[in-house]
Amino acid sequence: MTSTRTAAKAFWLAGRQATGEDTFEVTHPWDGTVVATVSVPTEAQVEEAVSAATAVQAGFAASPAHVRAAALDHVSKRLAERSEEIARLITAENGKPIKWARGEVGRAVSVFRWAAEEARRFNGGDAQRLDTDAGGVGRLAVTRRFPRGVVLGIAPFNFPLNLVAHKVAPAIAVGAPIILKPAPATPLSALLLGELLAETDLPAGSWSVLTVPNDRMPALVQDERLPVISFTGSDTVGFAIQQSVPHKHTTLELGGNAAAVVLADYSSDADLEWAATRIATFANYQAGQSCISVQRVIADASVYDRLVEKVVAKVKAQVTGDPSDDATDVGPLVSEDAAKRVESWVDDAVAKGAKLVTGGARDGASYAPTVIADLPDDAILATAEVFGPVLSLHKANGTDEAFAAVNDSKFGLQAGVFTHDLKTAFRAHRELEVGGVIIGDAPSYRADQMPYGGVKASGVGREGVAYAMDDYTYERVLVLTGLDL
Ligand code: SIN
Repeated sequence: MTSTRTAAKAFWLAGRQATGEDTFEVTHPWDGTVVATVSVPTEAQVEEAVSAATAVQAGFAASPAHVRAAALDHVSKRLAERSEEIARLITAENGKPIKWARGEVGRAVSVFRWAAEEARRFNGGDAQRLDTDAGGVGRLAVTRRFPRGVVLGIAPFNFPLNLVAHKVAPAIAVGAPIILKPAPATPLSALLLGELLAETDLPAGSWSVLTVPNDRMPALVQDERLPVISFTGSDTVGFAIQQSVPHKHTTLELGGNAAAVVLADYSSDADLEWAATRIATFANYQAGQSCISVQRVIADASVYDRLVEKVVAKVKAQVTGDPSDDATDVGPLVSEDAAKRVESWVDDAVAKGAKLVTGGARDGASYAPTVIADLPDDAILATAEVFGPVLSLHKANGTDEAFAAVNDSKFGLQAGVFTHDLKTAFRAHRELEVGGVIIGDAPSYRADQMPYGGVKASGVGREGVAYAMDDYTYERVLVLTGLDL
């Protein structure tokens, strides 16, 4: 960190731009150029943002739905209008290929649109008769949901706009103030989102985007004025947060080592072509830096060889290179350190007996799309989340063995099952220990209105606009007495 104010990009303090004393640089993962210098809030500025959020809390919760919905609609519209500029910014700070960055902006447009729609529908209330027992005659219970309080949103680097959108838009929709802390590597999309929020009539204090460094976060996490924490990131950090504030309402969207299962009935050439295309694409999109990218392929023995031949050919055909090029499928990881970690995990697997089928080479922050077979159980890759473009191949004898292999993981975020059989689809839904099962596609499919989240070490709670709105609020019952019903 340096101590200069020169041309530092401002953060957003209670809806207005501000700069602090220190700065940090955001660099392009592809070529190491400095994309921006960003200002860091001082302790006093963080305190000002938290105080402002606390002060506005009651008024914001009581604000009319049409005001919040209009603000959310405005942000959705402006994201769409500025989509190409924002996609290029995502690529610059994150290294994500431009085609995936464009997809991310499109998703954020829809998250804000959904939030506007849900804000209009939310909290219609529910009336319950109480005269089911003699003591309740003449009484009626009315239940509505109210914000739990100010939300502390902690966002990851891998979707620097859309995973920020998933924290901010539901908070605004329910009238909960939010302090958003973007990832230090990728704060620029969140700061640009601040520009669009600042164009609305949302009250001062209802939102802040604070570029606080990670080592200063424990104080904010502990702050009793922020009773809700919505965190997306690693399981280590997420569970440490939860354990440090067990009395707070904490949502954790953590990692995964998602499996794509290809069953015996998915066996025509066209079937295997589709499955292989989807697996190769979604093992490598964003250089594997998605919690639901395909990390494991579990294929029935009857289709294994034919599937693997196609998967390997398609992984080799992934276009690697400059992420700003329209043709690029796989760009760099977020940093050279991240690529070195992936390299060391692949090296560990190979040293322990795994077969390197393709890939396995690093160039700076880039790591080649990689396929591994015969992965030994004691390799780090066998149990941990790689968060890189690395796919391991596993053979299963039948559906029982395939589903058991999916569940043999500390994680449980999403799974993809390639089958045509409806009974098997429902069986997968029943038996797989994950937050979502995708039939006929890779586990990486996500529509932003769906409930999204995991079980086991993949987290607690659900995002997806309406689900996060439920999460940020609680039911409060009102009992009316002496009624003539
Ligand atoms: C994640 O990495 O958990 C988010 C995946 C997505 O939103 O597609």
